[in-house]
Amino acid sequence: MSDHESNTGSGQSDREDESGQSSRRSFVAGACTIGMGGALLASYGTFFSYAGRYLYPSKPAPKGWMFVTVASAMKVGDSLTYRTPAGAPVAIARQAEHGDVDDFIALSSQCPHLGCAVHWESQNNRFFCPCHNGVFDPQGNAVSGPPADADQPLPRFPLKLEDGLLFIEVDMDVLPNGAASQHSVNELEGNDVNESGGIA
Ligand code: FES
Repeated sequence: MSDHESNTGSGQSDREDESGQSSRRSFVAGACTIGMGGALLASYGTFFSYAGRYLYPSKPAPKGWMFVTVASAMKVGDSLTYRTPAGAPVAIARQAEHGDVDDFIALSSQCPHLGCAVHWESQNNRFFCPCHNGVFDPQGNAVSGPPADADQPLPRFPLKLEDGLLFIEVDMDVLPNGAASQHSVNELEGNDVNESGGIA
């Protein structure tokens, strides 16, 4: 083989190497561009998502007054369990007999510690969670046990009295199957609930 042929072959091989390197560079550059574009799109998406939530916050659930019971059907010391249309359990207790709405209190009966059922103990003048001996005062403030350690009171619900009837204000979210029913959810502990929602 002549020097000329040899040089020609080597030059061709150099050109092929350069061409190969050039396509690899193009590929890497393209991949970087796509990657950066994707990252930018993702960060813009996150930004607009947060901005949308800031500018158009989701509306709070509408509130409404729901009938609970005939007030005179509850004696001092009585309590009942009420379930909101969204299914949240509420303990309603009668703690006095002055004849106004302040005789009653409505507190979430779901323990803020791990969610066990809290109940009113009139003999001990307290709300009590048996799971870990969580104790709440008559106003729902945690005074002992894990809820007190974490300063977790029982959320309170507004009540009103009209013509001797007790009403509670609750979120009006309704379960998808419409399971919440006014008359099926009131259960006075130790008493029966009649057809009108009062206590028999
Ligand atoms: S769940 Fe009520 S004290 Fe733990």
